[in-house]
Amino acid sequence: MGLRLLRKILVPFAAIVVAASMATLLMGRSHVASPTSTPSPSQFSLTAAGSASRKAQLQTGYQLFQVHCSFCHGTRADGSTGIAPNLQGLGPGVVQLWLRTGWMPLKTPGAQPDNKPPAFNDTQIREIALWVASLKKGGVPFPPKLHLNKANVAQGFSLFTLNCAPCHTITGAGDALADGYHAPPLKAVTRHEVYEAVRSGPQNMPQFGPKNITPAQLRDIIKYVVKYIKHPVSPGGISLGGVGPVAEGFVGLFIGVGGCLLAAYWVGDRTERGSEEDQGSGEGPAGEREASHA
Ligand code: HEC
Ligand code: HEC
Repeated sequence: MGLRLLRKILVPFAAIVVAASMATLLMGRSHVASPTSTPSPSQFSLTAAGSASRKAQLQTGYQLFQVHCSFCHGTRADGSTGIAPNLQGLGPGVVQLWLRTGWMPLKTPGAQPDNKPPAFNDTQIREIALWVASLKKGGVPFPPKLHLNKANVAQGFSLFTLNCAPCHTITGAGDALADGYHAPPLKAVTRHEVYEAVRSGPQNMPQFGPKNITPAQLRDIIKYVVKYIKHPVSPGGISLGGVGPVAEGFVGLFIGVGGCLLAAYWVGDRTERGSEEDQGSGEGPAGEREASHA
């Protein structure tokens, strides 16, 4: 009797757990499958503005900056307003990264920069970056042509594990950091964004110069990020959204344990029904078999 009551509670519970786990799994997958706002590398072209003359590019960049950036960063991008940092000498790669990720322009000075669709097209971004870079030399350049054919993915994986996974997680899903910051997911980043982020170290991310990560090592990391983090290979079967070992273990545990509970109930129910019939009819299993043969 007690057993039956227990099962009455256990079965719906197990069914709910399995259903919930399946739902989480599916939701996780659709979330990962949906493309984020970051544009694809094919939209990116270093020669997009190649036809326009240098002077015209600087002029447009200057105008865009005055309209969209100067009230925070100052008309000379020197941070003279006191509400936003000096951009002089950071290099065009940094400006390009902050605009392509949608981190800039900020709506209000206190807001935390977050990934959004870029406010400008690639040509405009390049023009703004060129103008800011024209004020002072140095800093992070535009990314060079990144030939990834010879890059070593295995090497990239171990470098990523060592230098990047502590914040971005091993699957590149991103994670929360201290003080309300978060390391963003890397599933939709372009090779140029990886280059610029590693070389410039935005916000809470450390800056890795060529002494920490050589150009060849950086190519290895970039290849690993854009080839494998974007399109993860799951030799163990379904990837469960690549959310990390703890969450995945949780899903596995619930589906596994929930499934076992259901199976145990099914088996238990059959045996119990069998033994009830035995008692009721007073016939053994052999008699039953004979009856069914007749
Ligand atoms: C509402 C004010 C505001 C506007 C408008 C704005 N910025 Fe910023 N910008 C900031 C603040 C504040 C930071 C510092 C953010 C941080 O580090 O958390 C920043 C940081 C940056 C950085 C990174 C600086 C560094 O030290 O790494 C770049 C590059 C940048 N802005 C470029 C631009 C450009 C280009 C525009 C115009 C398209 C723009 N910003 C518009 C406020 C603004
Ligand atoms: C200490 C933590 C930390 C480490 C280590 C770290 N990052 Fe980051 N990373 C961040 C944070 C925080 C941001 C977001 C910065 C922002 O929003 O301004 C970021 C941003 C990025 C971005 C831009 C993402 C986007 O949305 O476009 C890329 C690409 C990136 N990191 C790659 C790397 C790589 C590759 C490594 C290893 C070489 C690495 N990071 C190591 C914390 C870290």
